[in-house]
Amino acid sequence: MARAPDIRGGSRWRLGGLELAILFTLGLAVLVGVREFAGGDDSGVGVDRREAAAANRPALGAAVDWDRLRGAGSYQRLFLAHYSSLTPENEMKMDALAPTPDGLDFREADELVAWAIDHEVAVHGHTLVWHRQLPGWLTERRWTRPALRAYLKRYITAVVGHFRGRVASWDVVNEPLTGGGAPRPSIWERVIGEDYVADSLRWAHGADPHAQLYVNEFDLERPGPKSAAMYRLLRELRRRQVPVDAIGLQAHLSPRWRPTGRELRTVMRRYADLGLRVDISEMDVAVGHERGALAEQARIYRTVAGACRRLAACERFTTWGFTDASTWLGSDRRPLPFSAGGAAKPAWHAIAGELLP
Ligand code: G3I
Repeated sequence: MARAPDIRGGSRWRLGGLELAILFTLGLAVLVGVREFAGGDDSGVGVDRREAAAANRPALGAAVDWDRLRGAGSYQRLFLAHYSSLTPENEMKMDALAPTPDGLDFREADELVAWAIDHEVAVHGHTLVWHRQLPGWLTERRWTRPALRAYLKRYITAVVGHFRGRVASWDVVNEPLTGGGAPRPSIWERVIGEDYVADSLRWAHGADPHAQLYVNEFDLERPGPKSAAMYRLLRELRRRQVPVDAIGLQAHLSPRWRPTGRELRTVMRRYADLGLRVDISEMDVAVGHERGALAEQARIYRTVAGACRRLAACERFTTWGFTDASTWLGSDRRPLPFSAGGAAKPAWHAIAGELLP
């Protein structure tokens, strides 16, 4: 077995037969207890997050609001009943970890990671290099290329090194492309140049050679200029032997922006053919209040979860939040699989139908 954290993340590639058998037996042994616990949640769905790992399915993950999760209430119970992996929504972004130029503040992120380890939940680190949520001191400063490059190297090395062995995967570069497929203008692209992407991946690999390293991006779910540009970028990184392991398809969708199953399978297979893991990393589906909206939403979730299940390279299916009570889109858009009250929506049944045994 390559790395313990992958077990918690439900990796489908790295477990041998004996290990799977042990996991399955352990899973059965704890099942009764966990079912009792899950029975106390608000969803009324009798499925268990460990079953997915035992059945060799993609792991189910969700972005979490740490302030809610740390309280021992229904939000935490609902999460623990159904998910084996979490992505911190904000606590590992640069504005949170680097509030001043002189040091790093790991307190919140450390608490979150300790909680996850205690509860056998894998943590997907999000995100090392992005154009948003940057500290003011960094964006306001006039940088030379060597100085910014040196800072970014120091930052990535310190953060990935700090969590080595506890955070098994990272969104190293988030959203590097524009809608047309050009390099997205950002402080990184402007001052360091396009190769900040390759540099960042190399520095992250240097700090934790076992971590799975992702490029994470939205609007890749259908063939088009952005999806094609991402393919070329990843192909080039692979050709240059830059350590990139995975692409995260964010999948922020709606009835207006949704792939067909065939479109999604086409793009996912192309990335997988490069030898990459291809996860769904931030799915949500914003809908209105018209009749049939939740059924339509469930169909979109089923399409994406089904494409993930059918592709061996798709190892994790993560939604950006899990209850409509807590979403960057606002509760009114009802984008997530559980209602604001914690009841399972048609979307959850669609996901469970595809991804849980
Ligand atoms: O922490 C401050 C708080 O101190 C302040 O009082 C408050 C006032 O507005 O703002 C708080 O920061 C907010 C932060 O979320 C934490 O709640 C920011 O204003 C707000 O902009 C930020 O939004 C986040 C957004 O990224 C920023 O771009 C969302 O929570 C988060 O869900 C969203 O996540 C992104 C992924 O990282 C990348 N992919 C797209 C996805 C959705 O936009």
